[in-house]
Amino acid sequence: MHVVVNAAMSADGKLSSCQREQVAISGADDFDRVDDLRVESDAIVVGVGTVLADDPSLTADDGANPTRIIADSRARTPLDAQVLDDRADTLIFVAESAPTRNVRALRGAGADVVVAGNGRVSLRRAFSELESRGTEQIMVEGGGELIFSTFEAELVNELRLYVGSLVIGGRDAPTLADGEGFVERNSFPDLELDSVDTMDDGVLLRYLVS
Ligand SMILES: NC(=O)c1ccc[n+]([C@@H]2O[C@H](COP(=O)([O-])OP(=O)(O)OC[C@H]3O[C@@H](n4cnc5c(N)ncnc54)[C@H](OP(=O)(O)O)[C@@H]3O)[C@@H](O)[C@H]2O)c1
Repeated sequence: MHVVVNAAMSADGKLSSCQREQVAISGADDFDRVDDLRVESDAIVVGVGTVLADDPSLTADDGANPTRIIADSRARTPLDAQVLDDRADTLIFVAESAPTRNVRALRGAGADVVVAGNGRVSLRRAFSELESRGTEQIMVEGGGELIFSTFEAELVNELRLYVGSLVIGGRDAPTLADGEGFVERNSFPDLELDSVDTMDDGVLLRYLVS
């Protein structure tokens, strides 16, 4: 199974504003590129923080939609979230401790809800479940907490990073990899730069994970 983390960040490494509001970081060409990556993936994964902040639909323009996956330990995905519409299948990974009432409501709204982990969703368990269901390519779309955990669990094969020509600033603005952070130098994931392309008014970097 191949796992691609894809994100757009500002020149100062932010994914969105200090109020966690979505910012247009890239342009039309990059949107098309992201759409193509969605279409060629079997699953698109986000953390519930992105669902709560942006209410994304996680669908591609041409309608060939991969399964939408939400890491949502406490089953907090709102029942009117766009990820629960009927444009694609949705699988929500929750922790064992997720409130039964919320889990039942999400199932009632049409989502497949699967337990993976105690307290917090275990991405290793979740990705292994996806692999057992025949998933060949996973696209991780964010946000910063989930991307950090995906690196921490050593699940990332590739990072595609659009760097936009703007500065967002703010110590509370989400960055590419938030979470607790790695402490020891030998635990920092090493990346191998594979390609650099200019796109719109920014740069697309593609890294392989060593
Ligand atoms: N520029 C971009 O490319 C891009 C893409 C996506 C999002 N964003 C931005 O990113 C921001 C949201 O990012 P975020 O960091 O706040 O949220 P996030 O990474 O989308 O979601 C984090 C939440 O996911 C849940 N989760 C479940 N299992 C997890 C695990 N193993 N590791 C980490 N999280 C887990 C946690 O809540 P529970 O424990 O309650 O489940 C956690 O709080 C928004 O402002 C959005 O606009 C930008």
